[in-house]
Amino acid sequence: MSRPRWKSLLAVASLVVLGLVIVAQVVPYGRNHSNPPIGAEPSWNSSTTRALAARACFDCHSNQTRWPWYSHVAPMSWLVQNHVDEGRGVLNFSEWNRGNSEAGEAAETVREREMPPRSYLLLHPEARLTDAEREQLALGLDASLVPTRQSRADQVSAGVVNALSADHANVDITFCEHSTIWTGSEGQRWRPRI
Ligand code: HEC
Repeated sequence: MSRPRWKSLLAVASLVVLGLVIVAQVVPYGRNHSNPPIGAEPSWNSSTTRALAARACFDCHSNQTRWPWYSHVAPMSWLVQNHVDEGRGVLNFSEWNRGNSEAGEAAETVREREMPPRSYLLLHPEARLTDAEREQLALGLDASLVPTRQSRADQVSAGVVNALSADHANVDITFCEHSTIWTGSEGQRWRPRI
């Protein structure tokens, strides 16, 4: 008695899928799992804010990414690599001395449940936040990342100001502090105006 037709088709289909998965492993993209050195972090308003961010954001927005086993297997590795590269590109909590143009948006993305991405939460239940934790993180992010007038003045006197948000990035700002008028744009070195 010959095998039912659907069984043969299924066997062929499985072999094709298996073949594709094996071939996919040869693609070089998705293997850069380096964690660059950890630089300056934001001045967190509390250790709770940092802990919540570490739990829900650091895998993609820091240099402390945990690389799970499936991040070594294509095609998942492509997705993970893309998330981490893009995530670090817009916001990197381990490189706070570099312009992090999206810092002003962080709290909003949390409140609107845009971040962390849903697909990530499926595989990372530990990163899920309760409503109370979400609100706490959003408040904490605003307090830690969006400079107030005073903290801005402190940063100005230290010589460097991080970008607040993309909207502000190219605006020239003048700032008066300790009888010196400073000028420059966020993300750049400030200079006294003569
Ligand atoms: C699975 C990886 C991943 C995690 C975890 C993650 N993000 Fe993102 N995030 C991204 C990627 C990728 C982008 C850029 C593309 C996009 O906008 O979807 C991004 C973009 C952003 C942006 C830029 C604005 C925007 O909407 O594009 C902000 C702000 C942000 N994330 C904040 C956070 C915060 C805060 C957390 C933690 C609560 C977090 N993200 C967790 C991957 C991640």
